Amino acid sequence: SQLEKGGYPHFMIKEIFEQPKTLADSMRGRVNVDENNITLAGFIDNKEKFLNAKRIIITACGTSWHSALIGKYAIEEFARIPVEVEYSSEFRYRKPVIHEDDIVIAISQSGETADTLAAVELAKSKGAFIFGICNVVGSSIPRNTHSGCYTHAGPEIGVASTKAFTAQVTVLTMLAMMIGKEKGTLSQEDYLKIVYELARIPEKIGVILKQDSTIAEFAKTFTYAQNFIYLGRGYNFPVALEGALKLKEISYIHAEGYPAAEMKHGPIALISQEMPVVVIATSAGMYEKVVSNIQEIKARKGRIISIVTDGDEVVSNLSDHIISIPDTEECLVPLLAAIPLQLLAYHIAVVKGCDVDQPRNLAKSVTVE
Ligand code: G6P
Repeated sequence: SQLEKGGYPHFMIKEIFEQPKTLADSMRGRVNVDENNITLAGFIDNKEKFLNAKRIIITACGTSWHSALIGKYAIEEFARIPVEVEYSSEFRYRKPVIHEDDIVIAISQSGETADTLAAVELAKSKGAFIFGICNVVGSSIPRNTHSGCYTHAGPEIGVASTKAFTAQVTVLTMLAMMIGKEKGTLSQEDYLKIVYELARIPEKIGVILKQDSTIAEFAKTFTYAQNFIYLGRGYNFPVALEGALKLKEISYIHAEGYPAAEMKHGPIALISQEMPVVVIATSAGMYEKVVSNIQEIKARKGRIISIVTDGDEVVSNLSDHIISIPDTEECLVPLLAAIPLQLLAYHIAVVKGCDVDQPRNLAKSVTVE
C-alpha cells in the first residue's frame, strides 16, 4: 500500500533511499568507531575455523552472487585465503571438491533460494563448515548453517535487490577485515583506515542520493536503448555486473557487465553512437587504465555515463553524463558506486512505464529450481 511505501511511488526507490539507515543497521554493534574496532559475533565464535581455513567457497545466486564476488576480492586481499565464488545451481550438481577444512559461505537475501539451500546441504554432508550471510531472520538457510551473520537490511519488498546487496557487501567486508586483522595479513594501519571509512559510508550514501533528480533527468534520454554495457575493474567489476543486472531486471533493456579491460576482447565491437556505456571510473582502483578504456569508447562515439570521484576532471571531460561520488577506501567503493546504478536502472524503468517492484517473469525468492 501507499502507506508501506512511506510516500515513495515504489518500494524499490524507498529501499534505495533507506540505504544510509540500513547500512548503519548492518554495522550497529559491530563497527565501533570510538574503539576503532569491528566485532562480528559469527566470526568470534568460530575464530579458529576461519584462521585455519585453507579455502573459502562462497555460493549464491543473482545479486547475492555479485556481492560474493566483492567478498572474494576483500577476503583475498585482507585475509590471504583463496576464495572461490560459485553459482549455487552449478555448485550443487557438478560434483565439486569440498574438504573438511573448507569454509562454505552461503549468501542469500531471502534465505530460501532452493539452489543455495541445496548447495548448503551438499557442503554440509561433505563435512565443511557452513556460514550463512542472510537477511531474513529465521529463514531456511540460516537454520541449516553452522553459524553466520545477519545483514539486518530490514524487509526488502522490491524484487530487484538493492539495500540487501549493500548490506551483504558490508558484512563481507567486516568479515574479511576481522580475519585479516587476526591473521596479521591486514596491517593495523590499514585496518584502522578502513574502519574509519566504513563508519562514514552511510553519510556518504546520503550525499549521493541528492543526485537523484539529475539521474532521473538524464535517464529519460536512454529509454530508446536496446542494449547497455557496464564496465568496471577490480572491486568495481562486480558492481558493473550488478548495475547491468538491475537494468535488465526492471527495464527489460539488455545489459552486459564486463571487466573494463576485457572490452577489447569482444564488447568493443558493439560500440557505436547508439550504445550507452556506463563506466565506473573512480580514483581508487586503476583509474588511469579505466581512463584509457573510456578514450577507446569515445573514439567509437559511444555515449558515456561515468561514475567518478568528486573533483574528477579527466573522465568528466570525456563523458556525456557523470555522477560523482565521495572518495573512500578502494574496497568500499562498491558500497557507493552501486547507488547511482540502482537509481539509473530505476528511473529508466519508470520512464519506460515498467512495473519496477514486480518485473515480469521474476520472483523475489526462488524456492523451486
Ligand atoms: C531472485 C531475486 C534476486 C535475488 C536472487 C537470489 O532472482 O529476484 O533479487 O538476487 O533471487 O536471492 P537470494 O534471496 O538467495 O539472495
